[in-house]
Amino acid sequence: MPLQKHEYLSSVWRDGIFTDKVVFCTGGNGSICSAQVRALVHLGANACIVGRNVEKTERMAKDIATARAGSKVLGIGAVDVRNVESLQNSIDTCVKELGGIDFLIAGAAGNFLAPLSQLSPNAFKSVMDIDILGSYNVTKLALPHLVASAKKHNSSSSLPHTQSSSPSSSPSSPPSPGAGGRIIYVSATIHYTGLPMQTHVAVAKAGIDALSANVAIEYGPLGVTSNIIAPGPIAGTEGMDRLSKEHKSGGANVAKRIPLGRWGFIKEIADATVFLFSDAGNYVTGDNLVVDGGAWRTSGGSPGGDFTYPDFILSGAEVTGVGGGKRKSGAKL
Ligand code: COA
Repeated sequence: MPLQKHEYLSSVWRDGIFTDKVVFCTGGNGSICSAQVRALVHLGANACIVGRNVEKTERMAKDIATARAGSKVLGIGAVDVRNVESLQNSIDTCVKELGGIDFLIAGAAGNFLAPLSQLSPNAFKSVMDIDILGSYNVTKLALPHLVASAKKHNSSSSLPHTQSSSPSSSPSSPPSPGAGGRIIYVSATIHYTGLPMQTHVAVAKAGIDALSANVAIEYGPLGVTSNIIAPGPIAGTEGMDRLSKEHKSGGANVAKRIPLGRWGFIKEIADATVFLFSDAGNYVTGDNLVVDGGAWRTSGGSPGGDFTYPDFILSGAEVTGVGGGKRKSGAKL
């Protein structure tokens, strides 16, 4: 469903700052990633989103394209980040149709609530494969294009290793606008403290954070930046719907537990994305940008706060009452 601008972007950004830039995004039909891409498209970028579900991905691409008249947004379905071939084909299509890749958002993720006692080796492996291997796969395949973009777009004053022996406090010339060669991984905060029923996800997100840091170190000299955005509890997202009973009931007690007193908005993740991909983020790499209203610091290990162990952890009963509960065998996604 087309969104009003104020729902996915602040008014502080100037139209056209991403003109002629291309963003490639995994998990692009999810609530958070689609808002990130929509904001970039609004500000001038073209985009390619990929996902497993063909119809959902194509529909979301059309929807995102409404953010700016004349934009090109490809939606390529049947792409699983665990499958290198499908990913490679989509990257090739993106480059062929849109001319390259300047920005990568690695957002595809798997999640469900399960205590370790109910987590089979295959369940754990599924999340490792989607999150860690999937992020690695798309990084490897996109990097040649990101390096080319950094070389093409980054002005000499913003490129590394070009500074004279007596560093000046300001660039020697105005930077040419619009950097390229940037990566954002969508991670989380749960591994900062640990969280019951999220062992698999905490391990996966810690791995993604490590991947991002190492990409920043190895590709910084080539002008590529790599950063994490770690969203907190964001209202209206599939993630919160799958994972939070309180989200389903409206979150009345949230104000008591989150320093900023509310759930986040998807627009706040999109704004952070614009910052990191814009010239305002030229010297930010290897960083973790937490956008959570301060939630993880007071959560006491729980997105809901006021943590008490749920009965089913102690009794071994199945998790019930949330969309992310265990599926019956044979049930479709
Ligand atoms: N509790 C415990 N185990 C679960 C589970 C749950 N709620 N949901 C799935 N599993 C297990 C399955 O039983 C299976 O293990 P098994 O072979 O030992 O039985 C394993 O996880 C893989 O499940 P499957 O459904 O075959 O994997 P998939 O690749 O089709 O799906 C998931 C991957 C499990 C991560 C699925 O939740 C998914 O596709 N999520 C995508 C959307 C998403 O999570 N978005 C996150 C937004 S925050």
